[in-house]
Formats: sequence, structure tokens, C-alpha cells
Amino acid sequence: MPPAADHSSAVQAPGPKHVAIIMDGNGRWAKARGMPRALGHRAGVQALKRTVEAAPGLGVECLTVFGFSTENWRRPAQEVSELMGLVKLYVQTDLARLAREGVQVRILGSRQGLPPDILEIVDRAEAATAHNAGGFLLQVAFNYGGRADIVEAARRFAHVVQSGQARPDDLDEAGFDRLLCTAKGPPLDLVVRTSGEVRLSNFLLWEAAYAELVFQEILWPDYGAEALAEAIEQYRRRDRRFGGVESHDAVAAG
Ligand code: IPE
Ligand code: IPE
Ligand code: MG
Repeated sequence: MPPAADHSSAVQAPGPKHVAIIMDGNGRWAKARGMPRALGHRAGVQALKRTVEAAPGLGVECLTVFGFSTENWRRPAQEVSELMGLVKLYVQTDLARLAREGVQVRILGSRQGLPPDILEIVDRAEAATAHNAGGFLLQVAFNYGGRADIVEAARRFAHVVQSGQARPDDLDEAGFDRLLCTAKGPPLDLVVRTSGEVRLSNFLLWEAAYAELVFQEILWPDYGAEALAEAIEQYRRRDRRFGGVESHDAVAAG
């Protein structure tokens, strides 16, 4: 008889390598303090700094954060410009340090519709950290929408077909993956959303197909090492089956 499977936690399940976060709740955090929403966004930038700092120590190799969605243009013009201004401020104050600390920054999303000064910052952030390729990867989804990215990928492939370089049937899932703006990052393991909302809001729709989802009540400006460690702990307790059987059953059957 084979020995009984050991379900004790002596050997820890591996943690996620690629974590994506929907940083939500800045407005509610500010409102609870009787402050304007803008101050919630500013506190959110501090939370982002803490989280980026904590991630490598928790075994995370790539962090993808949702900074501004294609739907966020619907917010009042003043709030949109506040959010744009914060991106600038974050890059201006933190880029040199990130570059020094071995972080590679990549900006995901559409460049269309972004003001010229933001485009300049986006290019600068990527160029100044390109030498860190292979190190910790910070992907900032900005002017990003999951559906828009899928449509953009489909268009790209249609153009390749039109030019005679491929046939429609040449496209498979791996090939489609490579056409998305996330192509250069590792596969997505975990999606976290803060503030208690339980939806994806158009974030990484294709990439999240088999990611684990963790929803936390904490508002984004309060986030940091402890909350990230807690999300990773939840992930470790999950059994990622990818459509198969439970992992310990597979071992027993093997
Ligand atoms: C997240 O906080 C920041 C962005 C969407 C850019 P919110 O601004 O959505 O905060 P709530 O959801 O109104 O509390
Ligand atoms: C998602 O949050 C976008 C970002 C965090 C940048 P929202 O606050 O915009 O999403 P909804 O409107 O609650 O779905
Ligand atoms: Mg929100």
C-alpha cells in the first residue's frame, strides 16, 4: 500500500511569480476622512511604493498594477488630470531609484489619446529601466482595457493575414498571447482587487483565464507588505487544477 499522502503544510506550496493588482478604493478612503478624492489618489501612490518595495521579498517576480482604465476617462476632467499628474510625479520621484534597484518598468495599454507629456514620461520610464530586463518587472497598466487589447491583437493578426504573411488558421492561443500588450511578461498567477469590489473591471481578461482571484476588503491607500503577504498566503492555500484533478490526487495516481 502506498504511504498516505501528507497534507500537512511542512512543504509550502509555491507562491505566485506574477501578481496583478486592481488598486481600488482611493476615493472611499478619502471620503471616509472628509478629504477630496485627489488626496486618496496621492495616498494610493504611497501604497504603490510600499507594495513594489515588498513584492520581491515575497517571491514575486512581476507585479502588474491597474493605474488607469480606458473607462476612467469617464471621470470628471479634474480627476483625470490629477491621475495623469500623479503618474508624472511617481515617475519623476521614483524612476532613478527603481532603475538603480534593478526594477524594469513597462507601461501596458494604449498610447492613443495620452497627452504628449505623459507619452514622454512613459517612454522615459521604459528606456531608463530597459537595462534591468530579467530583474523584477513592474508593469503599469495605463489607459488599459482588456477588451481593447484583445481587439488590438485581432487587428494586428488581420493585418498580417492581409499582407500574405500568415493564413487565418495559423493563429493559435500561444500565437494570440504574443500579440497582446502583456506578451513580454510571465504568465499571470494571481489577480488581487482591493476595496471589497468583486469584479475585474476589464483588467487582463485573456490573461486571467486560469489565474487565482483574491478579493480583499482593505482600501488601496492602506495597502502594503502585510496585505500583499496575506493575499499570497490565500494563493498558496489554493489548488490550481487547470481543468485537471487535485494536485495530491494526481501524485497518488501517478
Ligand atoms: C482607484 O480608486 C484608483 C483609480 C481607479 C485610478 P478609485 O478612485 O476607483 O476609488 P473608489 O472606488 O471611488 O473608492
Ligand atoms: C478599476 O477601478 C480601474 C483601476 C483600478 C485603475 P474602477 O474603480 O475604475 O472600477 P469600477 O468603476 O468600480 O468597475
Ligand atoms: Mg474604484
